Amino acid sequence: MIKTRWYKDAFVYQIYPRSFCDGNGDGIGDLRGIISKLDYLKDLGITAVWLSPCYKSPNDDNGYDISDYKDIMTEFGTLDDWKEMVEGMHGRGIRLIMDLVVNHTSDEHPWFVESKKGKDNPYRDYYFWRKGRGKDGKKPPNNWVSRFGGSAWEYDEASGEFYLHLFSKKQPDLNWDNPKVRAEVADIVKFWLDAGADGFRCDVITYISKVEGLPDGKLGGDNMFTHGPNIHKYLHELYQNVLSKYDCMTVGEAAGVTVEQALLYTGEEREELDTVFQFEHVEVNSILQVLPRKVGLKRTKGVFTKWQKGLYNKGWNSLYLENHDQPRCVSRYINDNPGMDNELRKKSAKMLATLIYFQQGTPYVYQGQEIGMTDIMFKDESDHVDVMAKNIFKLVKKYAPFLKGYAMKALQIRSRDNARTPMQWNAEKNAGFTPSSVEPWYRVNENHSYINVGEAQNDPDSVLNFFKRLIKIRLGNQIIIKGEYRELLPESRDVYAYERVLDGKKLLVVCNCKNKTLSVKLSDKNDPNANQKLILSNYDDAGACGCEMTLRPYESRVYEIN
Ligand code: NOJ
Repeated sequence: MIKTRWYKDAFVYQIYPRSFCDGNGDGIGDLRGIISKLDYLKDLGITAVWLSPCYKSPNDDNGYDISDYKDIMTEFGTLDDWKEMVEGMHGRGIRLIMDLVVNHTSDEHPWFVESKKGKDNPYRDYYFWRKGRGKDGKKPPNNWVSRFGGSAWEYDEASGEFYLHLFSKKQPDLNWDNPKVRAEVADIVKFWLDAGADGFRCDVITYISKVEGLPDGKLGGDNMFTHGPNIHKYLHELYQNVLSKYDCMTVGEAAGVTVEQALLYTGEEREELDTVFQFEHVEVNSILQVLPRKVGLKRTKGVFTKWQKGLYNKGWNSLYLENHDQPRCVSRYINDNPGMDNELRKKSAKMLATLIYFQQGTPYVYQGQEIGMTDIMFKDESDHVDVMAKNIFKLVKKYAPFLKGYAMKALQIRSRDNARTPMQWNAEKNAGFTPSSVEPWYRVNENHSYINVGEAQNDPDSVLNFFKRLIKIRLGNQIIIKGEYRELLPESRDVYAYERVLDGKKLLVVCNCKNKTLSVKLSDKNDPNANQKLILSNYDDAGACGCEMTLRPYESRVYEIN
C-alpha cells in the first residue's frame, strides 16, 4: 500500500457529536444532525473530519468510555446512519478520522464485566487487577493518581482486589501487555477502516504501556505509565499488522510529549504514528497550572518555534488552539470577559487563526471556533456537568472545603464544559442546535443571539468568512506545506511574526497579539519594493509591508513575497 500522506495537505474539522447538531429532536447531537450539516462543512472548505467517539457508551465521559467498539451510541443513531454519514463525507471530498479510545474501556464493556467475575475468568488479564497494600489490603496497590483526581485504583469487594483506572472509575485501563488485548485492538481498527474510516485520533495513546510491576512513581506515577517501556513496540506492531495496509492516517494524543519523543512516535521510517498532538502551548497537565489565565506570548511563541524547528523534515506537527478538552481560544488567550467587545472578538479570533494555521503541520479547527465561540460563565457548581469537574468538586468537598472558591475560579478557566456548549447555528432559542421546544443536554451560551452561523454567513467580515478564505489559501500551498519556518522578533512580547520559505518564495506572517496600536520593525534588510502581495488580513485596508509597519489592535497580515 502506498501511503499518500494526504493529511499533510488536509484541513481537519473536529466534531464533538453530542454538541454539534441534534437531528432527531431529543436534545442530544447525533449522526443525522451531522449529515444535515455536511454541506456547511463542504462550504467551509475543510477536507477531513475528526469525530469524537460515537460508539456505544454509558456516557460517564461522553463517549470516551466505550462499551461496544463496533456499534453506535444509542443517542447518536445506528451503523446505517454512520455509513450514510461517511458516504456523504466522501462524496464531498471529506475524509473521516475516528476516535480510537483503547487505553481503557467502559466498566460496562463485556470484557470488563467478565473480568470482574473472578480471578480465574479468562478476561481477568485484559485489565490490571492487583492486591491492595496495608494490613487489610485496602490501601491502593501504588501511588498512581487518576487524571480526573484521586487514586487511580478502585477496590472490588467481591474479589478483594483493585483495578486500575487512569481516568474515571468507569474507565478501567486495558492491559496491552496481554497479546489478546492487542489483537482485539487490531481487530477494531481493521473493522472501521474496512467500513470506510480514513484514520484515527488515538486517545491518550502515550499511556498504553505501563512499567512492569506497576511501581510507585513521581508526580502521581506519571513516569510509570507515560511513554512506557513497550509503547513503540506495540504501536509498530499495530502499524505493521493493520495500519500499513490502508491509506490512512493516525494522530496520537500525547500530553507532556517532548520534541525528541514526538520524533520517535512520528519518524516515517519508524512506522508507528503519523503525527501527535503536543500540549505545551495549552498546558493541561495539572489543575494547578490553570492560574494565571494569561500565558505569556513570548513563552508561547518559543513553544511554537521549538516544535516547528524540531519536527522540520523529520516528523509532522498538528496545529490547534482548541478541542473538546480546552477552553475557547478567544476567551483563553485574549479576553475572558463574556461581554467582550464584539469587533475585538472578531478581530482576535481571526488573528489567532492566522497565527497558528500558517505554521507547518496538519491544521485542526474545533466546531464553533470558525465563528469565534467563547467560554460560558459558570455561576454555580451545578453548572458543571463534566466528570472531571464533578470529581474535582467531590475531592475539594472531602479534603479541602476551603478551596471551593479556588476550584470555581480554576474551572471557570479550565473546565472542559466551556468547549462543550451546543454549537450556535442561529439566534433562536437553543441556537438551532435542537428545536426550541426541547431541553438541550447542556446549556446554550447566551451570546448565540449574535455569535452564530446564520449571522456569520450574512456578514462578509465574519470570522466564518475569514476562515473560508484562510482554508482556501492554505490548501495546496506548497510554501505552507513544505517551507522552512523562521521566527522573526523572538524577543517581542506583543507581536508574533514568522516567515515560511521555499525555493526563494516567502510567506510573511505578522500578528499583533495586543489590544493596542504598535509600530513594528521587522528587519533592516526587508526590501519594501520587493514583489509582495497581501494575501490575508483581518483589516480590509492593511497596507504594504516594509521594514516598519504600524499594526492596529490584533491586526494580522500575511504577505506573499517573491
Ligand atoms: C482524552 C480525551 O480527549 C478526553 O476527553 C477524555 O476524557 C480522556 N482522554 C479519557 O479518554
